[in-house]
Amino acid sequence: MNILILGYGKMGKIIGEIAESRGHSIAAKINIDNRSALDTVDTDSIDVAIEFSQPEAAVENIKWAINKGIPVVSGTTGWLDQKPSIDQLTVDKNTAFFYASNYSIGVNIFFKVNQYLAKLMGDQQDYQVSMEEVHHTEKKDAPSGTAITLAEGILQNISSLKGWKLSEEMTEGEQVIPITAKRIDPAPGTHIIRYQSPIDDIEITHTAHSRQGFALGAVLVAEWIKDKKGVLSMDDFLSF
Ligand SMILES: NC(=O)c1ccc[n+]([C@@H]2O[C@H](COP(=O)([O-])OP(=O)(O)OC[C@H]3O[C@@H](n4cnc5c(N)ncnc54)[C@H](O)[C@@H]3O)[C@@H](O)[C@H]2O)c1
Repeated sequence: MNILILGYGKMGKIIGEIAESRGHSIAAKINIDNRSALDTVDTDSIDVAIEFSQPEAAVENIKWAINKGIPVVSGTTGWLDQKPSIDQLTVDKNTAFFYASNYSIGVNIFFKVNQYLAKLMGDQQDYQVSMEEVHHTEKKDAPSGTAITLAEGILQNISSLKGWKLSEEMTEGEQVIPITAKRIDPAPGTHIIRYQSPIDDIEITHTAHSRQGFALGAVLVAEWIKDKKGVLSMDDFLSF
């Protein structure tokens, strides 16, 4: 495949290395300072664009590719309020758009464990749920996109909870999931869900040791999405 990398930072570089090691070619590596290279890139030769840039750049990057009919695999977090317009554009242009807040297979297993645990905890009034996420200090959005997906997995299964909030924005007695976001270098990403009661605590944790898992997942999805159409997610890609 010929892959366009939109956002050639920490993630984009690893994605490029993994893609080349799997026999793919890289059409161009686009960053904030060489965006004009998009004007001369041969769009007909591009099979898939992989987009890991920044929250303020993601929508423009994704729209550029979809408007050219190029399938897009996006991992940038912190822009999802605008996803409905991207989904509509994908349908209008008859191409494919894949978004995941986290491309690691381990995290996607963790998402399922989180949903199952929340289902078990739904009727247990004595337990207070909370979440903690830890990332490196360059991360712009908080809470992380992964934390928001985890919170949504809990909310789908515990009807007494009405939403999530960063813990410092909470007021006493709110029926929401408090999320603590810590920024500590060089953490690639840790997520902890806690259910605490006066009797005991239940805690599940996912810790990423490197960015390799996210990058490999994005390349595997790019290989899978190449000839597909529509708005797709990890639930379509994974069989569990
Ligand atoms: N979904 C996942 O699995 C996953 C995993 C890790 C990181 N992320 C997210 O991916 C994004 C990138 O992470 P990173 O660690 O590589 O960040 P980074 O800061 O290292 O890299 C971002 C790159 O985007 C480029 N960029 C900025 N504006 C641009 C524009 N207008 N056009 C093209 N490129 C532009 C920057 O030059 C930079 O090189 C973040 O939003 C992060 O939260 C997602």
